[in-house]
Amino acid sequence: MTSLIRFLMCAPDHYDVDYVINPWMEGNIHKSSRDRAVEQWEKLYHILKQHAIVDLVPPQIGWPDMVFTANAGLVLGQNVVLSRFLHKERQGEEPFFQNWFEENGYTVNLLPKDLPFEGAGDALLDREGRWLWAGYGFRSELDSHPYLAKWLDIEVLSLRLIDERFYHLDTCFCPLANGYLLYYPGAFDAYSNRLIEMRVAPEKRIAITEADAVNFACNTVNVESIVIMNKASNALKARLADVGFQVIETPLTEFLKAGGAAKCLTLRVTEPLDAEIHANVSVESRVIRMEGHLLDSGLINRALDLIVDTGGSFQVMNFNLGEQRQSTSAAEVRVSAPSHEVMEEIISQLIDLGAVDLPQDERDAKLQPVIQAGVAPDDFYVSTIYPTEVRINGEWVRVQNQRMDGAIAITQTPNGLVAKCKLLRDLEVGDKVIVDVLGIRTIRKTESREHRNAQEFSFMSSGVSSERRVELVVEQVAWELRKIRDAGGKVVVTAGPVVIHTGGGEHLAQLIREGYVQALLGGNAIAVHDIEQNMMGTSLGVDMKRGVAVRGGHRHHLKAINIIRRYGSIAKAVEAGVIKNGVMYECVSNNVPFSLAGSIRDDGPLPDTQTDLIKAQEEYAKLIEGAEMILMLSSMLHSIGVGNMTPAGVKMVCVDINPAVVTKLSDRGSVESVGVVTDVGLFLSLLIQQLEKLTSPYIASVG
Ligand code: ARG
Repeated sequence: MTSLIRFLMCAPDHYDVDYVINPWMEGNIHKSSRDRAVEQWEKLYHILKQHAIVDLVPPQIGWPDMVFTANAGLVLGQNVVLSRFLHKERQGEEPFFQNWFEENGYTVNLLPKDLPFEGAGDALLDREGRWLWAGYGFRSELDSHPYLAKWLDIEVLSLRLIDERFYHLDTCFCPLANGYLLYYPGAFDAYSNRLIEMRVAPEKRIAITEADAVNFACNTVNVESIVIMNKASNALKARLADVGFQVIETPLTEFLKAGGAAKCLTLRVTEPLDAEIHANVSVESRVIRMEGHLLDSGLINRALDLIVDTGGSFQVMNFNLGEQRQSTSAAEVRVSAPSHEVMEEIISQLIDLGAVDLPQDERDAKLQPVIQAGVAPDDFYVSTIYPTEVRINGEWVRVQNQRMDGAIAITQTPNGLVAKCKLLRDLEVGDKVIVDVLGIRTIRKTESREHRNAQEFSFMSSGVSSERRVELVVEQVAWELRKIRDAGGKVVVTAGPVVIHTGGGEHLAQLIREGYVQALLGGNAIAVHDIEQNMMGTSLGVDMKRGVAVRGGHRHHLKAINIIRRYGSIAKAVEAGVIKNGVMYECVSNNVPFSLAGSIRDDGPLPDTQTDLIKAQEEYAKLIEGAEMILMLSSMLHSIGVGNMTPAGVKMVCVDINPAVVTKLSDRGSVESVGVVTDVGLFLSLLIQQLEKLTSPYIASVG
């Protein structure tokens, strides 16, 4: 014993692996040897006694994990925050540890019930005493951190654990003397890694490998220049020696079976106070309210999951479950986040789900002026497809031109304030843009259960492919197409060249001819292939009737382009009688406007192809205006472009043979998008058949 540093340990008289509460314990129930455990523990005890004073708390029958005194509580000066164990398997240890602390003159602080915090296992002082690192994600709740800051009067830095093997902070993180830090970066989320890198200089960070991490090399007891651990690789030992630490290895394999090692088996009970340091915690909380068919629609699960997945935590304050089938539920949820940045990320996603502030917490949206044309303030709120309102001067104003990936700009007009989604490039100096996430809400229709179920569109909204599914979508789409046409509505089709290759050209042409399509969006290729097919019978040189390549056929493609270039436009070629049928022919003949957006791989291009991409985006946006339904046919590029411009409420049907495209496009979190993985030619032919059934008189087929 050379110093006044004290540790608390607990002899392994009753130690065993009796249950499974962490991945290390799996498969190890009653597999540890008591004798070997005692021997390993004694060794650690003796080593530690050469460097510090070691106190003992009596072990208790029935509480096998009590050996892990790191989880007794967190000590700073005379203050202790007693642990509140997450698992009932360990909750019985609490009174024994509390006793010991009280008998030894500590002031014991008790956290509210149901707020888990596992002591020094999840809270580690910077060895210079500058701040406290506190972990959350598995055992301790983020909401415990503000209590630590308050009671111990220290700055708390919250770190999120994401690898369940490293469920306690001390399994993957160990502040050492002189400002060094031993840690395993893979155990933390990106935000936490950034925080660590901001606080600890690169030359002070000792990041270890996964191989060392799973030997619990971070689970180290540090007394001045000594570091005591289960095992370290030669490389790690050399690294530590380089910066002046002497590694003492002592095998603790029996305790690894329960998910602990050297540091877990000890609790430092003399942690010096630094009078200069004061409480500071960046954990923020906010209460939100949600209403609707929270359970039926899965909305509440989605909300709670996204809070946790984004790095926050929550407490459900109130949940009023609607009792009748038709009645809605309402929930009030307290959201906590380790920083304002993470809070913004969480809230912006919750806004999309329809979350609102409590009436008494409503605030005006925050505005910041645009000072450089085409550039938004850093913290701008990114618009989504959902109908949005923003609160200005105490009034909720509906946002116009709703689309995703814009900024919301506020302008004063003679008729009052106007809020509009604007693309970054369209922002003008003097526009005021919404920043942060205050005073923003989206309007979600609460559909009744019956209504939801009746809407085929909603139940189809996950991109599964099966024969029956294709048929169901076709039936539904045909029905919608008819309804919209008969009501004088608007349907937009975006199509890729695959439509032509797969033989869908004639069907799409028929749809246009029969008035089911009010605008066509595509690129250079769909038009070229369609025209080539109708002038020469091939598509990219492949004979469309026989499906085989025609010798020299690839030139057809360029010849087609050349002919249209000679006439000056597709329309002129149609007028001249050069193109006599096909998709483009029907567009021209039926006055269906189209826009062809150029790309780097275009041949030609056709004179009609818009090679100024900004203009092409504008043309698309114009043609989409007022659409009730958009059919996206095998063009990832143009369909995603269209998806980006389209507000919620427009029915979208995405057909592609590639499931990834379908998922990407149909996953708009709304009921109106349907994805179907199938051959687009087949889809169009089924669609035409179905439309014929719907329009021709019913003839009973007698067998
Ligand atoms: N079996 C114990 C548990 O899962 C091990 C605790 C290890 N302690 C630590 N500070 N990491 O709770």
